[in-house]
Amino acid sequence: MSRNGSEWTRRPSLTASQFVDPRIYTDEEIFKEEQQQIFDKCWLVACHESELPAPLDYRLYEHPGGHNMIIIRDEDNKIHVFNNICPHRGNLLLHEASGSIAAASASGGPKRITCIFHAWAFDARGNCVDIPREKEGYQDRVSKCDYSLREFRSEVAHGGFVWVNVDDNAPSLKEYLNGALDPLAEMLAEPLEIFHYHRAVVEGNYKLWHDTNCELYHDYMHYHNRVTGMLQPGYFDREFVTFEGGHAQVTDMMLKYDAMKGHEKQTLGWPGLGPNRWALVDLFPGATFNIRAPAFRLDTVLPLGPNKLLIEYRGFGLKADTPEERAARVRMHNSIWGPFGRNLPEDLMGAYGQGLALADRTEAPVILHARVENNKIHDEVGMRHFYQEWSRRMGRKASDPFCEL
Ligand code: FES
Ligand SMILES: [Fe+2]
Repeated sequence: MSRNGSEWTRRPSLTASQFVDPRIYTDEEIFKEEQQQIFDKCWLVACHESELPAPLDYRLYEHPGGHNMIIIRDEDNKIHVFNNICPHRGNLLLHEASGSIAAASASGGPKRITCIFHAWAFDARGNCVDIPREKEGYQDRVSKCDYSLREFRSEVAHGGFVWVNVDDNAPSLKEYLNGALDPLAEMLAEPLEIFHYHRAVVEGNYKLWHDTNCELYHDYMHYHNRVTGMLQPGYFDREFVTFEGGHAQVTDMMLKYDAMKGHEKQTLGWPGLGPNRWALVDLFPGATFNIRAPAFRLDTVLPLGPNKLLIEYRGFGLKADTPEERAARVRMHNSIWGPFGRNLPEDLMGAYGQGLALADRTEAPVILHARVENNKIHDEVGMRHFYQEWSRRMGRKASDPFCEL
């Protein structure tokens, strides 16, 4: 029998961890709090070191807390992350999404980030190295050494990823991860190289995307996953392993690629992961390390608002790949996870459909995370674990964010 309005919105008779209030996906006030309580305090993957291969290469990063950042490699190969804002009068320093400051720019000399407004110049270590007519204008009241760039805490770690944290007092990256990337340690030990980057903008909340990576019950929507994974022995034995801090691992399994027409059996593996095997780790609040030998995909979320999300997708091979190995990794990556691959666009349809429907707040149902199956693959423990951490950091229950119950 169908339900009327009050029946539709009635809270289910489940424990509080087994459902969430839909407004956590759409509410403006909650989103602003998430920027401060979550994104400004967590370690986030900003990019990979191979995206800045040479000294003085840079890349811009729109941090989800609302900070425009410059990631730059200095002349000693150390990577720094700076606020992309001039300390003189707040002008944006760099506009191009990526590039190099090795050559002179229209506004200044080589090896300098030069503000186009009044030509203050900074080196790749963030030092202010030139203030035009400094003495004449400021006499001894302003000194270059007091006007360096704002540097954020960053580390290059766990496979050469550039991690950044806005909070000067946050626990270390090691404490933040609580061992969540240890299962991938061997897989991330050799130097990696990016070979693929694309982004998608979705009308939906960032948590909806991360949910799709934290549960595999939805594998029914993927023909590819059904034939290469779900129909294979051992699929339902995969387990979720949770790590303090909202992170989770899914134990690895053997895939049968040749069960899908058009796929050949794979012979190429990944360090620490044999051919045809699959390993996955989800990090709070929105990064997924996903390795299906022979390819590695990383998702990172850049929420643009409560109901708008930019997702960055990266594909990696090994720096030491032969041309044949690299071609095999690219082929496998793109056939499953490229923008026109068999698997990834289907996931986007799920999160996109949720985003469209939940934006109509009057119709949003309670969202269920209630499957319990001994932490096995169709258990929704990955999402429950995520929302436990979300509730802790936000000081709000995901099931009752406005204390109405
Ligand atoms: S605002 Fe950058 S030099 Fe003036
Ligand atoms: Fe999926």
